[in-house]
Amino acid sequence: MSNSNDRVNFGSRIGAILASAGSAVGLGNIWRFPYETGNHGGAAFILLYLVCILVMGLPIMIAEFSIGRHSRANTAGSYKALAPKSAWQGIGYMGVLAGFLILSFYSVVAGWTLEYTWQAVANNLTDKTPDEFATLFTTFSQDPWRPMLWMVVFMIMTHVIIIMGVKKGIEQSSKIMMPMLFVLILVLVGCSLSLPDAEKGLTFLFKPDFSKLNPDVFLGAMGQAFFSLSLGLGCLSTYASYFGKDTNLGKTAASVAVIDTMVAIMAGVIIFPAAFSVGISPDAGPSLLFITLPNVFQMAFADMPLLAYVLSIMFYILLALAAFTSTISMHEVVTAFVNEEWKVPRKRAAVYVTLGCITLGVLASLSFGPLNDFKILGLSIFDFLDSLTSKVMLPLGGMLISIFTGWKLEQRIVWDEISNGGKLKVPLFKLYVFILKYVAPIAIGLIFVNELGLF
Ligand code: PFF
Repeated sequence: MSNSNDRVNFGSRIGAILASAGSAVGLGNIWRFPYETGNHGGAAFILLYLVCILVMGLPIMIAEFSIGRHSRANTAGSYKALAPKSAWQGIGYMGVLAGFLILSFYSVVAGWTLEYTWQAVANNLTDKTPDEFATLFTTFSQDPWRPMLWMVVFMIMTHVIIIMGVKKGIEQSSKIMMPMLFVLILVLVGCSLSLPDAEKGLTFLFKPDFSKLNPDVFLGAMGQAFFSLSLGLGCLSTYASYFGKDTNLGKTAASVAVIDTMVAIMAGVIIFPAAFSVGISPDAGPSLLFITLPNVFQMAFADMPLLAYVLSIMFYILLALAAFTSTISMHEVVTAFVNEEWKVPRKRAAVYVTLGCITLGVLASLSFGPLNDFKILGLSIFDFLDSLTSKVMLPLGGMLISIFTGWKLEQRIVWDEISNGGKLKVPLFKLYVFILKYVAPIAIGLIFVNELGLF
């Protein structure tokens, strides 16, 4: 099991980091992080989010990497190999289901990025008032057909990369797109900060108001940390099953967490100054990015319309690409499972996954328009899928992964993986195991209990 060589590997160390970062960095950072921050009152939420990254995200990511690289299997297969015939396999199955559900609603928003790329190319994102930008988004998202078609296009694009295979498809695309996105985000940070009243946005982002803390803020911050790091569903363990023997798991995890957090914070620095500057409420929800950003281009480059035009096209293309490296990773979790566990040839497995996600994605997309009144536990289909996965399934998965690695997995394996068979020095090893055994599971458990109002 552990050394079978018939699985493909990522070609290089940087390839492993970039592919994992490509999975982590996506709409979760640039679209979801700002609107969750806005919904939960700003800086205090961000502070909790950072704590979650540090005490849960980073250690659990290393644990996921260890499980994946050691077993060299899809997420369900790895628990089968490491804990045969035990209930631990449930972690794998729940992860595959979470990957499938997230991909279904995520691809709807990914489709929106294609619409905005299209609108940018057609020069429709200029000469508008903030209200007109808001109307543009509402009209589009409520339309039954357009968002659905873009969602299907996005799923088909993802499908194509998945059948091209891991190395050619995933690694190469991440290597080019990630650095480009990073540079463009930096440019936009500069633009947004130059807008009038930018300080108000920065205050909202960085000056915590602890009176805003309540159980929902804790749960929201934890959910965002898991969602943003692609954690708790076996996505990074699936990618780690393609890592080479000398990939340094601790360093890779730290790089991914730092890159991911930086992109999220920078997205906040782009969105909030702009939102305050043009009077958009920070709690506008999923529409926040799409109604705020066009204003940034228009106002920051008022005297240089051509530059605004080119940069906005580039931004939406890169946003779509960031979403793309994430949808690929989710698709890979489910496809590798169907392929290896159900013994369905890889290409056919990919077709099943794509068709399944499109079906659920159609419902998620329609929940902004014709199906808006259909509620599950008071939430639209889209919001229900989002909350169920990020606020329940991923943290629960993370908690179980943490307990599994801390208590059940042979400690020799835990050590071998993090130290590459004793080759690397790991000064914080004891702390790492202590966090996995106690800190992370208890913290996640407390946040769940707190949310249920049991305190
Ligand atoms: N981390 C991705 C983002 O922030 O956009 C979303 C995601 C990708 C979640 C892969 C889960 C996953 F398995």
